[in-house]
Amino acid sequence: MEVIHSKFSKSVTQRFVKDPTRGGTRYLGGGCTARVFQYGQNKVVRVQEWRQDYDPADHLRWAEFCLKSRSKHVPKIFFLGVERDVNDKVTKVVTVLERLGYAGAQFEDSAWAMESYLMGWDEWSCISERLHPKMKEVFPYGAAKRLRAKLKGSGLEFNDLHDENWMIRKSDGRLVITDPIC
Ligand SMILES: Nc1ncnc2c1ncn2[C@@H]1O[C@H](COP(=O)(O)OP(=O)(O)O)[C@@H](O)[C@H]1O
Ligand SMILES: [Mg+2]
Repeated sequence: MEVIHSKFSKSVTQRFVKDPTRGGTRYLGGGCTARVFQYGQNKVVRVQEWRQDYDPADHLRWAEFCLKSRSKHVPKIFFLGVERDVNDKVTKVVTVLERLGYAGAQFEDSAWAMESYLMGWDEWSCISERLHPKMKEVFPYGAAKRLRAKLKGSGLEFNDLHDENWMIRKSDGRLVITDPIC
């Protein structure tokens, strides 16, 4: 595994390289592409492997974007590792990120509207009415506008911003985009 980023000591980093889920204490969930385990109190380990209909390279690009981003609406990443096959194709992406809480189904429609805004398909004036009033508190206009500007030209295409791919950071109450691409 190639370690792209690690905030951990050498020995802990090596543990993630050998067996990413070993330190995981509890299975938290998995959608169609990833498995997520609790790691300590405040972190999770996310392991994404190659599947016929899904290329983990997309998630790698998203994780790299998050590492560079200063937005409060993307996850803090403590470890990023990647495995490739002999043809250099990404086969596995491992991230350790901050543990977040469930945002709830109340944001379902807001999430799709926000996706259109962030991708530049719709202007704020068009989506504003579709946003749950709470959404504007947990993801304010200014933050959305800044993130949209950074996403522009990044090549990232969000296509999966349903409510389970948004979560809440308890410490600041912000909405965090966890898994926007499938
Ligand atoms: N940072 C996190 N903190 C807590 N739970 C998480 C976190 N990230 C993901 N999860 C849980 O794991 C599930 C799957 O993770 P996700 O990144 O959405 O992958 P998938 O591609 O499999 O949908 C989420 O729906 C959520 O229940
Ligand atoms: Mg998901």
